[in-house]
Amino acid sequence: MKIGFIGTGQITKAVVTGVINSKLKVTKIFVSERNKKISRILKFKSKKITIIKKNQDIINGSDWVFLAVTPTVGNKILSSLKFNKNKMIISFISTINLNQLKKITGLKSNIIRAIPLPPIALCKGPIPIYPPNIKVKKFFDKLGSTVEINNEKLSLNFWTTSAMMAPFYEILYSLSNWLIKRGIKKENAQKYISSLFLALSEDAFNHNKNLKKLVRESQTPGGLNEQAVKDLRKAGFYKLLEKTSNRIIKRLKKSQSN
Ligand SMILES: NC(=O)c1ccc[n+]([C@@H]2O[C@H](COP(=O)([O-])OP(=O)(O)OC[C@H]3O[C@@H](n4cnc5c(N)ncnc54)[C@H](OP(=O)(O)O)[C@@H]3O)[C@@H](O)[C@H]2O)c1
Repeated sequence: MKIGFIGTGQITKAVVTGVINSKLKVTKIFVSERNKKISRILKFKSKKITIIKKNQDIINGSDWVFLAVTPTVGNKILSSLKFNKNKMIISFISTINLNQLKKITGLKSNIIRAIPLPPIALCKGPIPIYPPNIKVKKFFDKLGSTVEINNEKLSLNFWTTSAMMAPFYEILYSLSNWLIKRGIKKENAQKYISSLFLALSEDAFNHNKNLKKLVRESQTPGGLNEQAVKDLRKAGFYKLLEKTSNRIIKRLKKSQSN
């Protein structure tokens, strides 16, 4: 199978790296020249990868086409491209809904929206797709675990929680800086914090634990964890997560209704 990517930014870099690291039977990977730096980095990863200048040539040469540009660029460039109905189109674009994609591409079927995240490069993490599609599910199951969504409105919830990636990394960054300020070497501080949170996430995931119970069991009465969680609750830290999620979903709903 030949696959092509319109837009070679952060998410294409991660997906293409995942494809190269996976057991997927992909014979050719076409990536757009933009971004120049990322497309060059990718080209060195595998002989299967070819950089293509014109977006139309990427579409023409690929069986599956991945749309990985920002919504603004997508709205600007996609309607001037020709998509034929034998192709599978997979859009990563956050705020262009299925109906809008159908209008822009002139296609009635074989358009799927997907939400990969950077850990796909390690063939890890959830990949929500809408609408459900068995071929696309099988593809993404080799790059992580596919979550099929039946209703586009529901997919907005997944887009919203995917926006917590940068805030999560900011937590790791803040905590490792806290250690650095106290004299711990940067390398050791970053390693300690990321391996701590990796282990905690793995524990929560592997045992499929009841998260509420996990919060309770991880605190010794009168202990340090109890103090930390109480302080953060009092400061409104967790309420802010909810408020921020509400604001993000509001923005998504507004963009999808256009
Ligand atoms: N990053 C994520 O974790 C993630 C996750 C899920 C979905 N998404 C979605 O995926 C899309 C891309 O996100 P991203 O984070 O990868 O953004 P990005 O890093 O900004 O990548 C977008 C790429 O599109 C290129 N581009 C601009 N104009 C183009 C054109 N006319 N033809 C071809 N390529 C063009 C840009 O190249 P230049 O640098 O040369 O301008 C840039 O490299 C967005 O819609 C986003 O919502 C992202």
